[in-house]
Amino acid sequence: MKRVDNHFEIQGIKVDKICQEFGTPLYVYDADTIVGQLSKFRKAFEGVDFKVKYACKALTNLSIVKLMKTLGTGLDTVSIPEVKMGLSVGFEPEEIIFTPNAVDFSEIEEAVELGVHINIENMSNLERFAKKYGNTKPCCVRMNPFIMAESNSEKVEWWHKQSKFGISIKQIDDVKELVKEYGLVINGIHIHSSSVIMNPEIFIKGVQNVFEVAERFENLDYIDFGGGIKVLHKEDDEIINIFDLGKGLKEELAKFEERYGKKVQLWFEPGRFLVSDSGTLFTEVKIRKNNGHREFAGTDSGFNQLIRPMMYDAYHEIVNTSNPDGEEQMYTIVGNICEIDNFAVDRNMPEIREGDILAIKNAGAYGYSMASNYNSRMRPAEVMIVNGEAKLVRKRDTYEDLVKNQIVIDFDKESLD
Ligand code: LLP
Repeated sequence: MKRVDNHFEIQGIKVDKICQEFGTPLYVYDADTIVGQLSKFRKAFEGVDFKVKYACKALTNLSIVKLMKTLGTGLDTVSIPEVKMGLSVGFEPEEIIFTPNAVDFSEIEEAVELGVHINIENMSNLERFAKKYGNTKPCCVRMNPFIMAESNSEKVEWWHKQSKFGISIKQIDDVKELVKEYGLVINGIHIHSSSVIMNPEIFIKGVQNVFEVAERFENLDYIDFGGGIKVLHKEDDEIINIFDLGKGLKEELAKFEERYGKKVQLWFEPGRFLVSDSGTLFTEVKIRKNNGHREFAGTDSGFNQLIRPMMYDAYHEIVNTSNPDGEEQMYTIVGNICEIDNFAVDRNMPEIREGDILAIKNAGAYGYSMASNYNSRMRPAEVMIVNGEAKLVRKRDTYEDLVKNQIVIDFDKESLD
């Protein structure tokens, strides 16, 4: 979204026009931004044999998933429906990796049937897998390298000891035992760090640990470094420079390959990096109120549509697209959910009036995909801007959608008394 004179546009289309046509609240994704982020990612790792597997949990809209297919990525999935979504838009099974956690073995069997790469993250399922498939089906193992990333939220840090994710590097001997006993073929090693990697040194330390682990397996075709690359939410945010990351990783890879005596492919599973910036949640201010202490702007959205500020204290920049030059004041911008539901607290913004359209930025990743119908409100519509055209890619929920799976049973009052 960029400002042109007094208005804002995405690919030349005025934001007001998009909101009038499709209504608010509305998620809008700019396909050009996704193309740009993907090409930046690819440049950072140029010279390495690698594959990008888009982590579609970040934004699972089928048109986005199809766009990724068109742009030549693979797919990282965490559930069977995500696998099926990928297949439905044309991904080949071998382009998809299935990385569930805490699932029972039947889900893994189902994924094997669907022909995708299997990534196993606990000894219980790995043992079942080894017993059932022996050397007939390779798998990847998800390791936990026990590194603490320095994110601002423990809720998205996966690399430390307390985390539920992954097989501990201390359990490698047990993994190797399964290789010996059942002929299990481990062709990939996977890690996914904190979802907000900020410090290249910590990442590289994790990478070194992973390469050390990798050396203990003979048949590796790939090492999968997961996702977790942070993006700017505000100008002074500290984020990792992806080109530094690429450089550091290339150096470690070269050392590893020399020791290992064989080339391996690197896989990455970016979600946020590819789609966060592309998405904006547009919401209309319905009410202004002052409680004698704070100035509130009440919108037609809420944490049921973008939960990140409430769940992770995430900062999302908010632009008043209707009054960008208004006089600055301090506002608390809230949603319409019947509990504390802040998008921003005491934030300086140009004057906000009822009817103004606010743009909540960085809403592409973990925005719609974490939305719910809490308070029996409809999830918003989603629009993609592609080749200068605004296209609806998901309709707004209807009342019928809300109630369609519910069954109203009969009661006999007397028997309840
Ligand atoms: N690979 C695996 C195995 C993952 O678990 C994840 C994210 C990714 C890749 C993609 O990570 P990304 O590049 O998007 O950071 N809801 C939270 C983030 C949860 C991330 C879950 N796993 C948020 O809104 O910040």
